[in-house]
Amino acid sequence: MPDFETIRLDRDAAVAILTIDRPEKRNALSSAVRAELIAALDQLRGDDGVRVIVITGAGDKAFVAGADIAEFAQRTPLEQRAAMAGRTVFAEIAAHPKPVIAMINGFCLGGGCELALACDIRIASDAAKLGQPEINLGIIPGGGGTQRLPRVVGTGQAMRLVLSGELIDAAEALRIGLVDVVHPAAELRERTLEFARKMAEKSPVALRMAKSAIRAAAEMPLSAGDAYETELFITCFGSDDRREGVAAFMEKRPASFTGR
Ligand code: COA
Repeated sequence: MPDFETIRLDRDAAVAILTIDRPEKRNALSSAVRAELIAALDQLRGDDGVRVIVITGAGDKAFVAGADIAEFAQRTPLEQRAAMAGRTVFAEIAAHPKPVIAMINGFCLGGGCELALACDIRIASDAAKLGQPEINLGIIPGGGGTQRLPRVVGTGQAMRLVLSGELIDAAEALRIGLVDVVHPAAELRERTLEFARKMAEKSPVALRMAKSAIRAAAEMPLSAGDAYETELFITCFGSDDRREGVAAFMEKRPASFTGR
């Protein structure tokens, strides 16, 4: 297992917990954090023991307070272009074969909100604050915020957040669909892990297919998406997991999925 300096990788049974570990900088997404997240996601892709991934921030103040503003303070456009070339953590999460949950434990701003938006499910503490405050810095979101945010909350709410830079609390984020579940801060970790553990008992094959099919809904016209879903549905019929899931139902016992 590689040594990470800016993130931690912990295991809770079949759930991997990736913690961005720069609490003194409110877990800002530096180049090092991004590179280490991509390396960890690569590692988890090939780890059959891991079925669900949770991403969170260290400490009780921030999930991620944005891109590391100090890093791009002096950059020229060419330098910024070079910094953004290559793989992005946002695309890696979206395309990852395993479900990725954002456990939003505090400030979730700018690149942090974009990181959460790239995840499959957003579970927030009732103390979280979310927003896209880039406009206050004279820039716009650059990690998919102008693209994923409207797909999640609709054009109007995306305009409201990006053009005003205002922060909203967890209750408002839940109301507009920016987060999917809110828990009291003290219960966030346990209740998120409980949910992740339950998901980890499902068929990894079906989890992968379901994620891919739902992701396709944001990318494809309805008829192509329907056809894609049909193909994935039929593909599931070739898996041991489908045989086991159906047999377990018929035999009135819990299924034990292998991911094959
Ligand atoms: N990039 C780099 N450093 C950041 C950061 C970011 N996005 N967000 C916070 N930090 C640093 C601060 O500079 C400060 O560092 P210092 O102790 O060396 O001075 C440290 O984290 C603590 O921040 P502070 O502002 O004192 O904490 P707070 O709890 O009072 O406020 C925030 C937290 C998140 C509200 C505030 O830090 C903030 O507004 N951050 C920027 C948010 C933003 O604009 N994000 C979009 C970036 S594109």
